[in-house]
Amino acid sequence: MELTIRPRRLRSSETLRKMVRETRVDKSSLVYPMFVAEGENVKEEIPSMPGQYRYSIDRMEEKLEELMDAGVNSVMFFGIPDRKDELGSMAYALDGIVQKAFQRAKRQVPGMYLIGDVCMCEYTSHGHCGVLKGDDVDNDKTLELLAKTALSQVQAGADMVAPSDMMDGRVGSIRRILDANGFVHTPIMAYSVKFASAFYGPFRDAADSAPAFGDRKTYQMDFHNRREALREAALDVKEGADIVMVKPAMAYGDLIREIKDSVHVPVASYSVSGEYAMVKAAAERGWLSEERIICEMAACAFRAGTDIYITYFAKELAECMERGLIG
Ligand code: PBG
Repeated sequence: MELTIRPRRLRSSETLRKMVRETRVDKSSLVYPMFVAEGENVKEEIPSMPGQYRYSIDRMEEKLEELMDAGVNSVMFFGIPDRKDELGSMAYALDGIVQKAFQRAKRQVPGMYLIGDVCMCEYTSHGHCGVLKGDDVDNDKTLELLAKTALSQVQAGADMVAPSDMMDGRVGSIRRILDANGFVHTPIMAYSVKFASAFYGPFRDAADSAPAFGDRKTYQMDFHNRREALREAALDVKEGADIVMVKPAMAYGDLIREIKDSVHVPVASYSVSGEYAMVKAAAERGWLSEERIICEMAACAFRAGTDIYITYFAKELAECMERGLIG
């Protein structure tokens, strides 16, 4: 057989496969999402996310140290308050749970890079991502509260803020308030391309944030859409987003790639709670290999164009990188 071109030639050994590998991964790309709750000595497992916990702030240090030891040095905090109201006032309270967590984490583990998720849904009694006007969110009124929330997080010690609410104009509002208060160098990572997704189910258990009525479709995106994703990302960049995010990650690789090719800022993707839960559930039954699946999912997200990968498997992935299972 006269075959000059044989792609298999470059697959003949592990050394060669690694040499020609197109996607390289690094622990510095990983961000771990973490739930912080009121109370003392709390480390409570989230039923739909086995292996993930809500930590009270006196217990979070052990997790932060564990992450640092594994080489993961960025976390994103989600606060779980002990009381909720119509206006989500604990989201921007100076003694709110997430603000206290930032203060403490900054002191205890100064090497950890701290990112704040900015949203109202964990803090509102109705579970929506903004304040209500009738049955819908009041976009423009919510902007003020989101800006206040972001500022309070940064004042408490957050190194970066990440608005996940999907209100129009929030990146601009947050940029303005941060700048007006002297935080001109605090970056904004916008959840720009965030879909109304069933993949968030377990998170809503974890954060107790399912909407009491209706759904999030008037603000989160319709997953049938692609051009709208480009529009959202471009808009956020124009308003001052330093990083844009695509969420979920696993089923949205096409959009990670398109966003990567269309904007000139780093692209994050968020492998969400439902992705975690599916892998865990199947692995528990012995139906697939957790380790191999998480490496494959991560490599695919990076191959699609991810620069920053937010995942509940951050520590496990860092360990897989160390062992050369993903490279
Ligand atoms: C808050 C927020 C959500 C997630 C991140 N920030 C939930 C939602 O939009 O309903 C989901 C994260 C996950 O599923 O892991 N708005």
